[in-house]
Amino acid sequence: MEKKDFDISIIRPEMRLADFKLRGQGMPSDRLKRIKEGLQTLHTLETMAVNIYKFQITKKESELNLQLISAMGNEMTHLQDFQIKLYEYGFKPSKLRRLYWVVGFKFGFFSRLLGTRAILKTDIWVEKKAVRHYGVLLREIDWDEETRKIIEKDQADEYGHINRWEAFLKKPEVEP
Ligand SMILES: [Fe+2]
Ligand SMILES: [Fe+2]
Repeated sequence: MEKKDFDISIIRPEMRLADFKLRGQGMPSDRLKRIKEGLQTLHTLETMAVNIYKFQITKKESELNLQLISAMGNEMTHLQDFQIKLYEYGFKPSKLRRLYWVVGFKFGFFSRLLGTRAILKTDIWVEKKAVRHYGVLLREIDWDEETRKIIEKDQADEYGHINRWEAFLKKPEVEP
């Protein structure tokens, strides 16, 4: 699985003052409604993603922990991306996100208890769902161009996560 045209080694793209904008003026209300639902969904998913990685990290000095920390940082960027876009449009995050905070915690915490293979398999499973979800939202919603670019970059990051965890799963020390 791959997605080209984005440098996914950039974990946190620069965002300058001039990149912030008030959005949505003059858009028809049905378009705004779809954008709101899409941003709330993405923001909620990313809330979960941050927690999955956060609760998978242990104190051990390992390559896996290093990679999990960078993935967590990347998901924190995604969370910021969608939180900023929500407020630029005059929307608020979904109340449901608190539930997904708990879901993310559970995925992260319980996979950590089961060990490296469970961590990697959980992450691959969740990231594949995320990539598909991103794809549907990209197809079905009439985004403004800047928001679309951000969603595409973030989707490319999720492809990158899948590739990284799949490669890690093949390492001899992880083999069952
Ligand atoms: Fe993400
Ligand atoms: Fe991800």
